[in-house]
Amino acid sequence: MKSHIQSLLIQALDVLKQQGIIPTDFEARIQVDRTKDKTHGDFATNLAMMLTKIARKNPREIAQLIIDSLPQDSQVEKVEIAGPGFINFFIDEDALANQLMAALKDDHLGISLPEQQTIVVDYSSPNLAKEMHVGHLRSTIIGDSVVRALEFQGHKVIRQNHVGDWGTQFGMLLAYMEELRAKNGEQAQMELSDLETFYRAAKVRFDESEEFAVRARKLVVSLQSGDEYCNKLWREFNDISLKHCHDVYTRLGVSLTREDVRGESAYNAELAEVVKELDTQGLLSESNGAKVVFQDEFKNKEGEPLPVIIQKADGGYLYATSDMAAMRYRSNVLNADRVLYFVDLRQALHFQQVFKLARKANFVRPELSLEHMGFGTMNGADGRPFKTRSGGVVKLVDLLNEADTRALELVRSKNPDMDQAELEKIAKVVGISSVKYADLSKNRTSDYIFSFEQMLSFEGNTAPYLLYAYTRVAGIFKRAADIDLSDAKIVLAHDKEKNLGNKLAQFGEVLSRMVAKGQPHAMCAYLFELAGAFSSFYEACPVLAAETEEQKKSRMLIAQLTAKTLKQGLELLGIETLDRM
Ligand code: ARG
Repeated sequence: MKSHIQSLLIQALDVLKQQGIIPTDFEARIQVDRTKDKTHGDFATNLAMMLTKIARKNPREIAQLIIDSLPQDSQVEKVEIAGPGFINFFIDEDALANQLMAALKDDHLGISLPEQQTIVVDYSSPNLAKEMHVGHLRSTIIGDSVVRALEFQGHKVIRQNHVGDWGTQFGMLLAYMEELRAKNGEQAQMELSDLETFYRAAKVRFDESEEFAVRARKLVVSLQSGDEYCNKLWREFNDISLKHCHDVYTRLGVSLTREDVRGESAYNAELAEVVKELDTQGLLSESNGAKVVFQDEFKNKEGEPLPVIIQKADGGYLYATSDMAAMRYRSNVLNADRVLYFVDLRQALHFQQVFKLARKANFVRPELSLEHMGFGTMNGADGRPFKTRSGGVVKLVDLLNEADTRALELVRSKNPDMDQAELEKIAKVVGISSVKYADLSKNRTSDYIFSFEQMLSFEGNTAPYLLYAYTRVAGIFKRAADIDLSDAKIVLAHDKEKNLGNKLAQFGEVLSRMVAKGQPHAMCAYLFELAGAFSSFYEACPVLAAETEEQKKSRMLIAQLTAKTLKQGLELLGIETLDRM
């Protein structure tokens, strides 16, 4: 509906251009917003105010000219000027009801599908040297939700799990793996099942023994020069580490598969070429023996240049080097229109620098959009980065186990008589959903405080609240399974019906916002409001005890569309619904 009004306004502007009131080459960004107060209609635009300068008239006068030039439209009931020159649109109620009927019949809830794009989404991307920890949660969950939304809109999405599977720490790990196996194969297998401990033990060996450290460094060199034996060891190690990651993905219901893994090592063969190319283009400088790029745009507070390091003095390549190669691949081989990076905000400077450099060096097609979708830190109750009691990193697996346990207690307290198997089934969904939803519902760019109490509460914008709201709506149909709705029609008569109808009609707008800005929290806020609008409707408008048969059926359809919208919205967030809880 929003884009429909925008198109009406564009037509009106064309008329004003023909009349010479505004210049023909003028391109306006037409903003249309939902109104907060329904006495001002459903949508409003400030377009007239934007035009005062170029049309040299007062805004109310321009607003009238625009209104006079709007084409006739059956969906708009009336248009009014308000305040200093806002134009308010009142949507025709039948048109709204028809829109809702269409949404009910359509798999895509009646949204208009945008032009299809190829979109690469770089997310999760943990470092394989260690086990996944809570720092990877946000990237994994937010990225996966945006992926689902993009696919729902019909885009071609290419997932890229840019894992850290290369670099000097692998020498240490391989040396330790070799040493352990020589001593005791079983022991090695066991230690590898806990990568955190394995990493720590390897680090201890590295620090205590010079002989070990030398061996580790040699192994890195052999690995990077393609030595068969080292590569085999390395593959074995990564395989174990990736298996840990995929166990977590399965548990979280995240859609990444092994085919989506394309880590830093995948670009190894192209790194020399990246350096050569940058050199040919005159972009490289020397700094203490290292090859670096200085860009005028990047200086620190003291005005000193901040370089991107491309190759170390010892010949080793860096994180930025593989990102350069990855951008080239994504632009020129995958042919992406957009590349979205779901990576911690603390890497913002890195991405600004490499994006800029990729453009200067023509590594990417000019029309490619590179977008760092940064996110804030997950903090503990003390407002500091989330840690275990002893100050260590929190393993994702432990966190999910605790969520499960707490969810089980919660569900049991609500259903003391439910049998254990069913309790566990429900608790699994509630536990995982709560962790995911707590993350998704916060603005991506802010830090947030991780709290089991808050995320497992039935009050407020939480997973339990929404899952429960869904079971309530779905419950209406259980009690009325035999009602034939084939000839039913939605009629929006009561205020609460209109209010709910208006909310339901906004799904497409919210979806567009979610994918354009990579903001699942917009969808969360919407679903929360939708559930609230349904509650108010349900309190004020009896469904099964409605006054007439038509009214009952209309209300059933409204409830059905609410259930469908809630389910779809939650699905895009990667959250399963339940029939009872
Ligand atoms: N492995 C990196 C980390 O854990 C994230 C990689 C993000 N993707 C990228 N193309 N740089 O910090």
